[in-house]
Amino acid sequence: MIDTHTHINMIEEISIDEVVKNAIEDGVTKLIVPSAYPKDIDEVMSLVEKYPPVYGMLGVHPTEVKDWSDDLIYKIKEYSKHPKIIAIGEIGLDYYWDKSFNDLQKEVFIKQIKLANELNLPISIHDREAHKDTYDILKEHNKNSEIVMHCFSGSVEFMRECIKEGWYIAIGGVVTFKNAVKMKDVAIEVPLDRLLLETDAPYLTPVPYRGKENQPAYVKFVAEEMAKLRETTFEEIDNATMENTKRVFGI
Ligand code: NI
Repeated sequence: MIDTHTHINMIEEISIDEVVKNAIEDGVTKLIVPSAYPKDIDEVMSLVEKYPPVYGMLGVHPTEVKDWSDDLIYKIKEYSKHPKIIAIGEIGLDYYWDKSFNDLQKEVFIKQIKLANELNLPISIHDREAHKDTYDILKEHNKNSEIVMHCFSGSVEFMRECIKEGWYIAIGGVVTFKNAVKMKDVAIEVPLDRLLLETDAPYLTPVPYRGKENQPAYVKFVAEEMAKLRETTFEEIDNATMENTKRVFGI
């Protein structure tokens, strides 16, 4: 398995050494760590240097765009020359927390899409309660980057719209929650060749550890739930998502 979106630098209860060790022991071969805050960019660079299974994505999360400066474009361009920087992310729109700077979110989102296109890197998209604007902006501005809808939270219909555009759907721990009916429907309907696995650790911990801190080793619970919902084997989910990860991220 590959955990395609995991903030291991934000895990507090265990050390990063332990996080990586637990993941490897539970069959996770690679971890992709996004930046969210501008300060994460340097942390991601040191993690990819230190840990062989760790790969990185660079970008600024929509809730953190108040700290955006155009200098970051040059920094990300320079850092993305590193062979283990494999995507731009996580970037997008978040209308859940604070709607007072939606226009700034859109502006910075578009700048980072253009940067990903220029660097020819895939993009990990954060879309929270902003499906329509996220879709419209991607459709208008993205030219050549592969798109991954990280922590997908839309309906089956929205999932189908994304699939039509050639985008990928990344599913995490929410699918294991009993009341996540919409998410389970998406998990059943998503084409297997467009599915990616992730944890978004330290958030959204899957059952049976819901309520505790998440870590990449728990991606297996997501894969198990996917297999159960789709009435297939764990191996089929594992093989398909590994292949998809390779196609999108080149690892
Ligand atoms: Ni995230």
